[in-house]
Amino acid sequence: MAVLQKIRELFIPTEEFESEVIVPAPADIYEIRPLTELHLREVLALNLRCFKEGENYTKFTFSYLLNEPNCLSYRIVTTSERMAGYIFVMTNEEGTGHITTIGVAPEHRRRGLANRLISHAEKMLNKRNISTVMLEVRVSNTIAQALYQAFGYSIVQRLSSYYNNGEDGFLMVKSL
Ligand SMILES: CC(C)(COP(=O)(O)OP(=O)(O)OC[C@H]1O[C@@H](n2cnc3c(N)ncnc32)[C@H](O)[C@@H]1OP(=O)(O)O)[C@@H](O)C(=O)NCCC(=O)NCCS
Repeated sequence: MAVLQKIRELFIPTEEFESEVIVPAPADIYEIRPLTELHLREVLALNLRCFKEGENYTKFTFSYLLNEPNCLSYRIVTTSERMAGYIFVMTNEEGTGHITTIGVAPEHRRRGLANRLISHAEKMLNKRNISTVMLEVRVSNTIAQALYQAFGYSIVQRLSSYYNNGEDGFLMVKSL
């Protein structure tokens, strides 16, 4: 266990992120690009900054998703090529897409980046003839719920103790 913790510290200095002060980034022009295994370290670090509840995807999970042909993944970058946000969507042959994770760096929030990432992902899902998209969100994550609701996602089910800390989730669904 101690060894695992050590390896984790080598990759991501979590304590540093926990105490970070957020200074809004200067105005920028953002572009959406594919997210590949080349960006594994960057997405892993950004994910840790976005999700502080202690249920972050591991390096292994991201690596798996980035090598999975049924997974669409995109990043949104600044003019200096820094990753400001990301989205992962799994698809299946029954015509369903699943937003598995989305995050935007705190200093780039409220600039419509999540909006752009979801719009782009939905456009790509449409091209694959995906007609339904679903996702799970913590009941306490009212910001993300507002984002999804604005996009036309509806809560269809409450998922009891869905998260490791016992918190319930909402299953949200949208027909494209
Ligand atoms: C949720 C998250 C991805 C939103 O990213 P963002 O780029 O700031 O979102 P946008 O600027 O595109 O906002 C889109 C809409 O989301 C909602 N929203 C976003 N931030 C909000 C906030 N702080 N308060 C209320 N609503 C908010 C609004 O409806 C907003 O539309 P509006 O600006 O027209 O009011 C970002 O806050 C984040 O990374 N959070 C941590 C990770 C997370 O919770 N991911 C979702 C897990 S299910």
